Amino acid sequence: MWVVANRHFGKLSDVWKHAALAEVLERERPQRYAETHAGSGAYPIVHDGERQFGILRFLDVAAHSEVLARSRYRAVATSWLSGRGLYPGSAVLAMTVLGDASSYLLCDLDPGSAADLRRWARELSMHSCEVAETDGMAAVAAWLDRHADKPGLVHIDPFDPDARGPGGYSAFDLALRAAEGGTPLVYWYGYDQPGEQAWAYTRLTALTCAPLWCGDVMVTGTSSTAGDLGRATTPGTGFGVILANVQAGTVSGCTALGNALAGAYDNALLPDGARGNLIFTTRTNGCPSGPR
Ligand SMILES: C[S@@+](CC[C@H](N)C(=O)[O-])C[C@H]1O[C@@H](n2cnc3c(N)ncnc32)[C@H](O)[C@@H]1O
Repeated sequence: MWVVANRHFGKLSDVWKHAALAEVLERERPQRYAETHAGSGAYPIVHDGERQFGILRFLDVAAHSEVLARSRYRAVATSWLSGRGLYPGSAVLAMTVLGDASSYLLCDLDPGSAADLRRWARELSMHSCEVAETDGMAAVAAWLDRHADKPGLVHIDPFDPDARGPGGYSAFDLALRAAEGGTPLVYWYGYDQPGEQAWAYTRLTALTCAPLWCGDVMVTGTSSTAGDLGRATTPGTGFGVILANVQAGTVSGCTALGNALAGAYDNALLPDGARGNLIFTTRTNGCPSGPR
């Protein structure tokens, strides 16, 4: 039996990450897309409490929200789930939104994930897609060096933001480098204590004056147990997306999506049977976008 390296697909944290990513790609339309931790191409859907609260609930409630209903994420997830029974990972989401007009560098250390990415790149007829079974930080740093004149978009989605790969970069270092260099960036972070809300934005904004935006989602509820990022639905757990060097319209599109998501999950039944909410907050350092 194939065991996927990414056990968290389709949970609520993926919903926010992928909804924002699809919105960014649709609006920015980068000619080049590079991802450090790409995971598998697509995942057979699992009907457990976490996915029920994540992608499956999202598809139910999205129909009743104007913003969510017309989101690109909803369209892509619906077509993959109803057509194939698969949940699309971020790389397949990117290929579906951008198509063959863009080129791709997709990195994952796990051989099964890399094989699945290659399979879907072939299946979707992507002619310019390199799958690198190697450390994503080193590969994407080299890609940034090679394309310094024509930057594409970098997506960084790490398990551990501070683990250094063989190239010497951590995921956080690479995010800082991309932001500073003017490259459009999507960076995901998570936490399991309410006091850590938006921690990655706080850290990054102290180090760069590149234009940053952060959309943070925190689960709240009546229980006072500590959060658990692995489950992504326990009160006190949160996750967010930081964008750098994107257009103002992209930021407003993601802000509208985050607000609509929180509204659609108002007083939702959490997997543990208690009621909960999503608190969506945004932060920006107000630096202007454009060549710096
Ligand atoms: C959270 S999953 C990625 C999910 C994917 N980005 C998505 O949103 O659908 C993290 C992946 O990172 C891979 N990974 C861990 N360390 C890595 C590294 N240093 N370089 C490349 N991939 C790595 C794991 O094998 C795993 O598949």
